[in-house]
Amino acid sequence: MPAKPRVFVSRRIPAVGLDLIAPHCEAEVWPDPLPPPDAVLRDKVRDCEGLISLLTDKIDASLLHAAAKLKVVSNFAVGFNNVDLGAATKRGVRVGNTPGVLTEATADIAITLMFAAARRLGESTQDAREGRWKTWDPLGWLGQDLAGRTLGIVGMGRIGYSVAKKLHHGWGMKVLYTDQVSRADVEKELKANKVELDALLKESDFVSVHADLNPQTKGLFGRSQFAQMKPTAVFVNTARGPIVQQQALAEALRKKTIFAAGLDVTDPEPLPPDHELLHLPNCVVAPHIASATVHTRNEMARICAENLIAGLSGKPMPSCVNPEVGEQ
Ligand code: DGY
Repeated sequence: MPAKPRVFVSRRIPAVGLDLIAPHCEAEVWPDPLPPPDAVLRDKVRDCEGLISLLTDKIDASLLHAAAKLKVVSNFAVGFNNVDLGAATKRGVRVGNTPGVLTEATADIAITLMFAAARRLGESTQDAREGRWKTWDPLGWLGQDLAGRTLGIVGMGRIGYSVAKKLHHGWGMKVLYTDQVSRADVEKELKANKVELDALLKESDFVSVHADLNPQTKGLFGRSQFAQMKPTAVFVNTARGPIVQQQALAEALRKKTIFAAGLDVTDPEPLPPDHELLHLPNCVVAPHIASATVHTRNEMARICAENLIAGLSGKPMPSCVNPEVGEQ
């Protein structure tokens, strides 16, 4: 009987995923709560045919070069900006991701952050905890409404659409969006309008980022973008930290040229404890928890395992981001 393929799993993932892969491979699971250092990861995958990676693992050309037997990288995330896709494709390594299953959980966090930032929840709950709540104050902790306001979605993919749908139907928000492609279906269903980014920034009361991180979106939000937003505007990012120039955002929040921000992603992650964004009262920062529900993480583990098993056996993967590699 041929030996089972060796697989490295770079962190503990929900048992549903580990149980699925167990009969198909010899899996080693990294037991620590923190990611393996780059050099350790490289060493661990040297003799592996499969890798289950996380967004905290850098899967670059040199790692792929060191792992000559690698057939499949199954990323436990929908985003795969941690993987050098060009290098993987060149080496014939198939790369999987977990789209679809985290759409609603991520949209929910974007909306949660919108409310938290708009209604000053971080600042006011901290005041309550720390003894600054002296009385019911007619002028205290005044925030912004969502109902009937304009929502600007940057990137009308699955998650952007889910946010827009919930807030249009639930809070009667008018929807503007930017995307590389027009979404006639969304325009019809939500009466949404596709506009240029400048127009979206000027007209929106809430700007929510749902774009991929790529060379076009890296640093997309800088000083001139924040300067175009309304002083009452709320900015939310649940996509990837490097899409935002954080110094520019901190300055806009400090000078109150925008009202507030809600971030589930930063650059780096975690932010150092003394980073200004963690201390500005009008900034709510969550530790990249958008997909962190029991159901969603179980589903991510399932798809991730199914991608790995299919990739190891040369069958079509449920979700492959470089299908041009073909099945071997
Ligand atoms: C992803 O899947 O890309 C998220 O950022 C992590 O849940």
